[in-house]
Amino acid sequence: MSQSKLITLDEFTIQETRKFPQATGDLSALLRDIGLAGKIINKQVRKAGLVDILGKHGATNVQGEEQMKLDVYANETLINILKNCTECAGIASEENDDHLPYEDTFSYNSKYVVLFDPLDGSSNIDVNASIGTIFAIYRRVSELGKPCTQADFLQPGRNLIAAGYIIYGSSTMMVYATRLGVNGFTLEPSIGEFCLSHPNMKCNEKGKIYSVNQGNWVKYDESMRNYLNYCMESNKDEGRPYTQRYIGSMVADMHRTLIKGGIFMYPGDTSAPKGKLRLQYECNPMAFIMEVAGGMAVSGEGHVLDIQPTELHQRTPIFIGSKKMVEKAMEFVQVREVAN
Ligand code: AHG
Ligand code: MN
Ligand code: MN
Repeated sequence: MSQSKLITLDEFTIQETRKFPQATGDLSALLRDIGLAGKIINKQVRKAGLVDILGKHGATNVQGEEQMKLDVYANETLINILKNCTECAGIASEENDDHLPYEDTFSYNSKYVVLFDPLDGSSNIDVNASIGTIFAIYRRVSELGKPCTQADFLQPGRNLIAAGYIIYGSSTMMVYATRLGVNGFTLEPSIGEFCLSHPNMKCNEKGKIYSVNQGNWVKYDESMRNYLNYCMESNKDEGRPYTQRYIGSMVADMHRTLIKGGIFMYPGDTSAPKGKLRLQYECNPMAFIMEVAGGMAVSGEGHVLDIQPTELHQRTPIFIGSKKMVEKAMEFVQVREVAN
C-alpha cells in the first residue's frame, strides 16, 4: 500500500464521527487516546526481552525511573492517559480492586467510562508469545457534573458503545468495534501510526479450529468432554477432526478466531465453576466485537452480553467464535447452576 493511501486511526475515527451530524467527536478522541496508550505500551513490550540486560524489575533505569512489571506499567499508562483526556469520567481495571473516578471538573462532565485488562496473557511475556490489551467503553449512567459511580461499570455488555483490543504480536494491531463494524489497524512503525489494514472484519459462520485448555480435561464435566470428543472425531464432510490451537492469551486466541473462524472456550470446571475469564474486562468486550463481526458469544446460559454484572471482577464461562460452531457446542454443553 502506498503511503498516500494510508488511512490512520485518527483519520478513520474522524470519518466515522462525520456519519453522525449530532456526534461530538468524544468517542473518536477516546479511541485515539487508547491508541496512544497502546503505542506507549507497545514500545515497552518490545523491550521486554532486554530487561535482563538493561536491569531487572525493581531496579532503577538511567532516567532514575523504577522499572515496573509490564502489567503494572500498562495499567498506569492507561490510567494516566485517560485521566488527562477530557472524554473519560473514570476507569475500572483488572489490576485495581475498585473503580477509579477521575476527580476533576472536566472528568465530572465526561460522558464515557472505560474498563480494561491492561495486559492480557502476561504469562506469555517470558516466552515471547503474543500478549494484548483489552478495553470496553460505556456511556455513563450516573449524573453528569459529579464523579462517576460503580453503577457506570456494572452495565451489561449490551450497553457497550465500543470495545477493542491491541495485540502485541508479530506486528502490533488495534482492532475495535462500534455498532457500525469491526476494523483493524496495524501499527506502521516508520510513522508511528495505526493504519487501517483490516476494514470491516467478519468472522466466518463456520471454522475448523477449536481452542481450549484441554489440560483441564479431568475437571470438565461429561457434556464438555462429549463436545471435545466431537471436535476430535473424524468426519470428512464436516472437516473433522478440527485443528486444536491454544495460545493462552485470550487476545491472541480471539484474534485468530476472528480472522480464521473457529471456537474459543473457557468453560467452567470443578475447581472454577465460572471459569477463569473476567466478564467486564475480557468476555464482554470480546463478545461485543464477535457479535458485530457476525459471530456469537455465550456463557452456556445465554448471550454473554446479556449478563447483568453484580460485581466488578466477576467471571463467566465463555464459548465464542463462528456462529455455527458455538451453536453446535451448545447442543452438547450443559451448564450447571452456579451461585454468583
Ligand atoms: P491475564 O494475563 O490478563 O491474567 O489473562 C490470562 C487469561 C487469558 O488471556 C487466557 O485466555 C487465559 O488466562 C489462559 O488461562 P489458562 O492458563 O488457565 O488456560
Ligand atoms: Mn486477561
Ligand atoms: Mn491482565
